[in-house]
Amino acid sequence: MIKKAIYPGSFDPVTKGHLDIIQRASKLTEELVVAVLHNVSKSNSWFNVDEKIDLLKNSISELDIKDCKIRIISFNGLLVDLIEKENIDVLIRGLRAVSDYEYEVQLNLTNNLLTKKKFETIFLNASRKYLYLSSSVVREIAIHHGKLDYFVTDYVEKKLIKRVDEINGKN
Ligand code: PNS
Repeated sequence: MIKKAIYPGSFDPVTKGHLDIIQRASKLTEELVVAVLHNVSKSNSWFNVDEKIDLLKNSISELDIKDCKIRIISFNGLLVDLIEKENIDVLIRGLRAVSDYEYEVQLNLTNNLLTKKKFETIFLNASRKYLYLSSSVVREIAIHHGKLDYFVTDYVEKKLIKRVDEINGKN
């Protein structure tokens, strides 16, 4: 059993694909830190960091988590600095189709060059039904008023619809 793992991401917004990884990772570790990147340069985000944390909290509360402490935090700067600060043993990343592989290996190798802290990266294969799901696809569906319930929780769906109305100047 892993003592402390981290699952970092942009989560703009959290999808059922992310939740599937969180659910499965919770079975591998005693504590899971879900870390939301607070990146001011990524200003094209639909949700700010507080909203992303709220969406995560709400969505994670619907999962069936046993014997794993889940903590949701935000971070900026380098992920390895957070890994050092939090004394993380394992970095969890979801791996979808082959297209993710190149970026993930680059991220992994770079992270390992940036720190002396020893940690392992575990890639969890996305479940078949979420293989091609991403936050950007979800935003695209939302903007065109498509059906969202397959991809996000009801709570996230409501917030997405509200955000689309705001973007379209309805609110
Ligand atoms: O959900 P994402 O967008 O795939 O998550 C990417 C994330 C947040 C894990 C990655 O961008 C990240 O770790 N950013 C922090 C800066 C950093 O440490 N970059 C890696 C070394 S260049």
